Order: sequence, then C-alpha cells, then structure tokens
Amino acid sequence: MAEILACRTGDLADGQSLTVDGVEPPVAVFRVEGEFFATSDLCTHEDWSLGSDGDLDGYQVECCLHQARFDVRTGAATQFPATEDLRSYPVAVRGEEVWVELS
Ligand code: FES
Repeated sequence: MAEILACRTGDLADGQSLTVDGVEPPVAVFRVEGEFFATSDLCTHEDWSLGSDGDLDGYQVECCLHQARFDVRTGAATQFPATEDLRSYPVAVRGEEVWVELS
C-alpha cells in the first residue's frame, strides 16, 4: 500500500481542488462540503489537469478544455466528450492531514 500526504485540510476551501506535487501519474484532490476526494488528475479526453484547471460544481468537476465532466466521488465520466472514467483513490483525513492511498 502506497499512501501519500496529499495536502493539509486548510489548503482547500469547499469547491476547490489541487494537483498533488511530485506524484506520477498526477493525482487531484477535491473538497466538497468538508469532504475530500481524490482521482487521477488528467482528463481522460485529452489529458488536461482537472485539479489545477478544472471547475468544481458540487460533486462534478468540469474540464475547462472541452467541458467533459466527472463525478469526483467515483471518477465516473458523466458528460461527453470524456467516455473513460478517472481513477478514484481512497482518502483518509487524519487531523489536518489529507492522505491518499494510491494502490
Ligand atoms: S481535455 Fe478534457 S474535455 Fe477535452
């Protein structure tokens, strides 16, 4: 099991996201209503960063390039042109630390 310290709870307000530094393949973390979710970072349509440049609307993140959407809770692609799901990773919040399990 590979677990990484992705960020601190205070790094994100509700409705915000980030791309975790130094992880390959890249991972995105999203905060919705105080809960944290993690998925693969790159849009499955054409590899655009969702953590750094996605638009989070509730539990849906929209890719800024061609407006594909994904559910951050599951990684499921919910709007064309993406047809392939993101990978979803388990998240554990311990105190102020947000940990993501990669395997
Ligand atoms: S790269 Fe994301 S919708 Fe095209």
